[in-house]
Amino acid sequence: MEVLKKYNSELQQHLENAVAQKEPRQLYDPIKYILSLGGKRIRPALTLMVCDFFGTDFKKAMSAALAVELFHNFSLIHDDIMDNAPLRRGKRTVHEKWDVNTAILSGDAMLILAYRFFENYEPTMFHELAKLFSETALQVCEGQQLDMDFETRDDVTLVEYIQMIDHKTAVLLGAAMKMGAIVAEVSESDKDKIYQFGRNLGIAFQLQDDYLDVFGNPETFGKQVGGDIISNKKTFLYLMAVGEGTSAQAEELEHLFTINPKDPADKIATVKEIFLSSGAAEATQAEIEKFSHLAYSLLDEIDISEDKKILLRKFGKDLMERDV
Ligand code: IPE
Ligand code: IPE
Ligand code: MG
Ligand code: MG
Ligand code: MG
Repeated sequence: MEVLKKYNSELQQHLENAVAQKEPRQLYDPIKYILSLGGKRIRPALTLMVCDFFGTDFKKAMSAALAVELFHNFSLIHDDIMDNAPLRRGKRTVHEKWDVNTAILSGDAMLILAYRFFENYEPTMFHELAKLFSETALQVCEGQQLDMDFETRDDVTLVEYIQMIDHKTAVLLGAAMKMGAIVAEVSESDKDKIYQFGRNLGIAFQLQDDYLDVFGNPETFGKQVGGDIISNKKTFLYLMAVGEGTSAQAEELEHLFTINPKDPADKIATVKEIFLSSGAAEATQAEIEKFSHLAYSLLDEIDISEDKKILLRKFGKDLMERDV
């Protein structure tokens, strides 16, 4: 992501040093492993960028940025157990490479390591950052639970879906940005607006993630394409296809999303075809646009220069055009 490049090398350096080589190796090796696989590093870069844009040295936000990225990686390790996912960032998931118990405990340790980074701030700022972090982390758990519940429910609504992705994904993007604003000590109103900007962009981001899960290129995506279909995830694509497709399509989808075939290839192919022909794929793209523009409209009232706002919009655009 072009706009975030400025922060990447410093961030990478700190991430490499974030986890010391400690014993027992079975606990720390998976942490080093998942961090070594990279990823886009969007969330920590956002923390640094917002701090920078509000006129404060972005290095002051480094600890908060590291906390956010460690938390994100912890959530991925546990998410991959819950989603039964074999691939992450083009490599085997932690629970596949080691085992589920290892993935649980290494994930737990990462969550604690994340919290520790806030100890680098003075009491008032520590309190504000930790409070936001705790609230956000709990919302992520709530979102993840809804995501699991939806796998076996057949009456999920679009409103419930948006609420679910808001919690599992969007609040963390919002919080990552707000932390940059907290470190920059800006007004409450600006903290709140940048948070809402990140949150709306986060909803668009998860819609795009769900889209790529179906239509991504298996060669480059880095995750198992079709994983959400295999797990019967009630995504926007699914809900739109059931709602807007023909009754035959809706019936077929509803049936396919109650079964778990040993070889899922036919199921994936049929679902993909219905997502396209029912108009659900296009509707998802439109929804991504909708939430992106909602985010951009919030920028108008934020107290930063126009050139920074242009960069924030550019970031949103790059994010929605990604293929990973
Ligand atoms: C994956 O997040 C999990 C979601 C919330 C969709 P990213 O797409 O940011 O994953 P990495 O960190 O770049 O691998
Ligand atoms: C993940 O959503 C959200 C969290 C990790 C909290 P997904 O399950 O869609 O993320 P991916 O697709 O595995 O990265
Ligand atoms: Mg997943
Ligand atoms: Mg998941
Ligand atoms: Mg996904």
